[in-house]
Amino acid sequence: MPVALWREQMNLNYPPLDDEHKAFLDVVNQCFLASQVGDFQMIDRVFEKCYDYARNHFSHEEDIMERIQFPDIEAHMRSHQIFIKNVSELRQQYEVAPSLEEKQKLSEKLASFLNVWLLGHILSRDKVFKPYLVRLRNLPPRMNYDL
Ligand SMILES: [Fe+2]
Ligand SMILES: [Fe+2]
Repeated sequence: MPVALWREQMNLNYPPLDDEHKAFLDVVNQCFLASQVGDFQMIDRVFEKCYDYARNHFSHEEDIMERIQFPDIEAHMRSHQIFIKNVSELRQQYEVAPSLEEKQKLSEKLASFLNVWLLGHILSRDKVFKPYLVRLRNLPPRMNYDL
């Protein structure tokens, strides 16, 4: 039974981004499972998937926000940067953890952080540009390549 569940209000009704959010929700659940059973190889992969998500999803979203001229893009980008910083700090602590018990505690901390962050970020940040997504339709074809 997955811990992190998709909620209707998380939908932006824009599949290119909703699908990326859902895929990362799966990563959060993999992290919960791995932390419960002490699967540290999987936790290493989760850290990598966090960086992949930051590289791919954040740049996708930031590119869209630029094209639709979303006014609060700077604050949103800062929020993305803070995620990367938080994950990197957790990873540093995890890498030097002196015992397996400590590693497990940090894996649990990572899972809770990712769960709270993803839900909070989508509902409080990503949802704010949802009304602006209609602007994509009015862009010239070379700028509305997501449609
Ligand atoms: Fe975002
Ligand atoms: Fe997002």
